[in-house]
Amino acid sequence: MRKNRFAALLLLISALLIIYLVKLETSYLSSSRTLANYDFSGFNNTVGSRKLLVPNIIHFIIFDKTDVDFVMFVCMLSAWLNHRPSHMMLHTNVKMEEKSKYLTVLRSVMGDGLVIQHLPQPSHVFGVKLAIVHHAADVARLQVLSKYGGIYLDWDVFVVKSLNSFRHYECAIGWPEGAYTGNQVIVAHKNARFLKLWLQSYRDYHPSEWYYNGGEVPTKQILVPRPGLVHRVYTEFGVEALDKELYQQNWQDYSKRYTIHLLASHKYLHDKAVLTEEEYNKCNCTFATLVNSVISQVADEQLSVLNNAALEDKLTKYLNNQIQSNSLLKKHLTPEIFADLKHQMTSSFHSTIFDVVKTGLSNPDSSVGVLVPDTESYHTFKSLLLPIIKDYHHLPEDFVGQPNHTWGNVNTIGKFGSEVISTRIRIARSIEGYPLNSKMTKQNLIDLEQTVRSVLEQNFAGTYHSLPEMTEEFRKDLVDRHFMFEDCDRFNKGGGGCQHWPTGRGIYISNDEKFLVWINEEDHLRIISMDKGGDLFAIYKRLVESMNILESHLKFAHDPYYGFLTFCPTNIGTTLRASVHLKFNNLKQSEVKNEAKQLGLQVRGTHGEHSDVKGGIMDISNARRLGLTEYEAINQVYTGVNKILDLDRQGK
Ligand code: ARG
Repeated sequence: MRKNRFAALLLLISALLIIYLVKLETSYLSSSRTLANYDFSGFNNTVGSRKLLVPNIIHFIIFDKTDVDFVMFVCMLSAWLNHRPSHMMLHTNVKMEEKSKYLTVLRSVMGDGLVIQHLPQPSHVFGVKLAIVHHAADVARLQVLSKYGGIYLDWDVFVVKSLNSFRHYECAIGWPEGAYTGNQVIVAHKNARFLKLWLQSYRDYHPSEWYYNGGEVPTKQILVPRPGLVHRVYTEFGVEALDKELYQQNWQDYSKRYTIHLLASHKYLHDKAVLTEEEYNKCNCTFATLVNSVISQVADEQLSVLNNAALEDKLTKYLNNQIQSNSLLKKHLTPEIFADLKHQMTSSFHSTIFDVVKTGLSNPDSSVGVLVPDTESYHTFKSLLLPIIKDYHHLPEDFVGQPNHTWGNVNTIGKFGSEVISTRIRIARSIEGYPLNSKMTKQNLIDLEQTVRSVLEQNFAGTYHSLPEMTEEFRKDLVDRHFMFEDCDRFNKGGGGCQHWPTGRGIYISNDEKFLVWINEEDHLRIISMDKGGDLFAIYKRLVESMNILESHLKFAHDPYYGFLTFCPTNIGTTLRASVHLKFNNLKQSEVKNEAKQLGLQVRGTHGEHSDVKGGIMDISNARRLGLTEYEAINQVYTGVNKILDLDRQGK
């Protein structure tokens, strides 16, 4: 009995569910059928429908152009970002250059939302030849809207805000007081009566009149007698001539419009240079405001394609010897390597070959000319970087990789004689999980500074000095005492490494002033052990002990082949540079340089890299950082400098 009742209940519930589902399905079908086959007789275009009648598709038509220009690019972006259609159709009669820079950016922003659709250019209308391409486009937009419905926009119509409120009508069109309708912006259902009548009116086509069929006929013959066929938009579509407001003023009221016709191919606009990527910002006018308002909505990595196009011009000049350079970049970059790397991008931080070479392009006097934006780039751009690295570090062709990291037996390192004025060892480190210098965001810089600072403050006795908080006298004093870096240098800057300077930069100084850590200068970390005189042993020992502490708190970027990774490939491997400042009694600078070279050492000026020798004080250090262990690098300096000192003494 109970069982039966339960079965009956189950049956009833199932039956109700089936009825409900069938109803749901048919109501869905019928509503979509009514939407698609809408019959608009008697439709009220003043009130509109509560439903969204017009599909959320934006249509652009471009005839005879294989590329998207700057204005089209900006307008399409504005339509996508400010209106947010479900997709955007670009109807064209020719094959578009998909690799073009603007189309590449549009693709990366819109993905599959951008549909490039072949549309033959109409040649005739009702048997009469269409006189000009503009008339063909006038007809084509009516055909496209009759086929799909949606929002038609001229390629120079900027969309200020969402047009959704106009999708509740059969058709909405800009029709200012006392003027003809503007066919630059048409929002229409595909069955809109006005579209059919307008197309029919082309039976009376006037080839010699510019705006007869495009504006005069639809206004005078169709809409004046039957204004209810459309939802009249007086000013909000910005179809009137707004040339002064756009190009000669900073017009605040643009935000009241939904769309604005930019008049890009119009007689009103005398100076067309303003319509380019290079010049638009110079006008300080509404047009520049509009452009910046959309560009600022696009992520930097997507826009990098634009900057890259300018860099590519420069690179071509560089490869063609129109820019002279003796850098390793110039020596190793061939057109083939460039062609191969041009379309590569790292997945971690979206870095390109342009990020790598831009320091060399903006500083033709570079000796190296590359900086590496993220650790992945060392592999992605290997065909360029490895030859440069081998050349710089004097590595054999068959170099198998950096030997294991080892500080060696510290006790075998001794002291220099009294000729040595001061000694310094520095190490560079990158922290895993962050990009390298040029790709660090402001927040990355701040976060990294905070992390390292707290490790230092908890484990060492000293003080952290943040660069933005430092007084100018204090900063100068640190620079003069060779404690701190100077301003961000032009090589670093050219590589994109001075962003948000001085944010996140600073120096940690131990109480005895012998242990320093730079944060976010060229590298995430530069760790320095230094002292007056020549006690290399004590200085090395302090460095090793400090590194052991840091290593137990921070995870450093390390690669099995390249060793420790840094922003500049000259520092990878050990990252270690041990240098002594000293004055010779007998040897001349050129003799010292010759000797040093044979011993794997390098001579720099008194104030380090890119400086001159002053008062006979030279800076001697290991030339290579890669292809030898930390211990070997130190030992090279220890034995090498001693050898040169002996020669100098013998010369007495
Ligand atoms: N980028 C500079 C050049 O190519 C410097 C290279 C080595 N120095 C450095 N601070 N990373 O000449």
